[in-house]
Amino acid sequence: MISEHPIIVANWKMNTTLADAIIIASSVRKALEEMHHVEVILCPEFVWLYPVKEKLSKFPLSNLKIGAQNISQFDNGSYTGEISAQMIKNLVQFVILGHSERISNFDEDENTTNKKIKLALDHDIYPIVCVGERTKSETSVTFVVNKLKRILKTISHEEYQNILIAYEPIWAIGTDKEAESDYVDEVAKKIKEELSDDLKVLYGGSVDSENASNYLIHRHIDGLLVGRASLKAREFVEICSLANGGCDDIG
Ligand code: PGA
Repeated sequence: MISEHPIIVANWKMNTTLADAIIIASSVRKALEEMHHVEVILCPEFVWLYPVKEKLSKFPLSNLKIGAQNISQFDNGSYTGEISAQMIKNLVQFVILGHSERISNFDEDENTTNKKIKLALDHDIYPIVCVGERTKSETSVTFVVNKLKRILKTISHEEYQNILIAYEPIWAIGTDKEAESDYVDEVAKKIKEELSDDLKVLYGGSVDSENASNYLIHRHIDGLLVGRASLKAREFVEICSLANGGCDDIG
């Protein structure tokens, strides 16, 4: 089940060595021992999924999960180099789908993302579905909501409780130009109103420990998807701690 606590996703993209992955994962795990009001999902590169899982499963924490960054749109067959949902379903609980870097660098379209969402759900993996507009001038709540509706077409409403949405304005990713938190809250609210209250909506795009709280205080924003700042263990732990409420659980 998807947590009711704030959710913080680390998207390491294609940036870590095995040693980096293990160091960040171990530091986050250690810090999370004291945090009980936040759910963290680490998304390593495919090849580090197994070693990271091995490392974390020695001392498992219920609020630390592993996600993949992509899956194939096909379930199996002659697709050289692809990795299917069924291959990783025992390694991960989540998968990031439809990230803008898949769209801009690998020509993924809404239909492809839709197929991947279905496959993930078929294999009991929770999809983290990314959606956002390309340019600031395209920015409109309606644009984002309509795009999401197309991506989720054919996905039954009962499945919405098993899906996380990451609202990621593409112009805010990797740019240090994060979106206005009031606007993000408005988008999140509209997504819930138009699609379902069951959907949890995260924000992603140049999140760091300086701006994370701006989003987390908003009622309709359920968490954050963090790229660059998730590669620095201390910085990422700080974001997790802000989401946790900045306090240790003593209960
Ligand atoms: P960023 O990446 O935090 O480095 O902007 C976010 C993302 O790609 O989801």
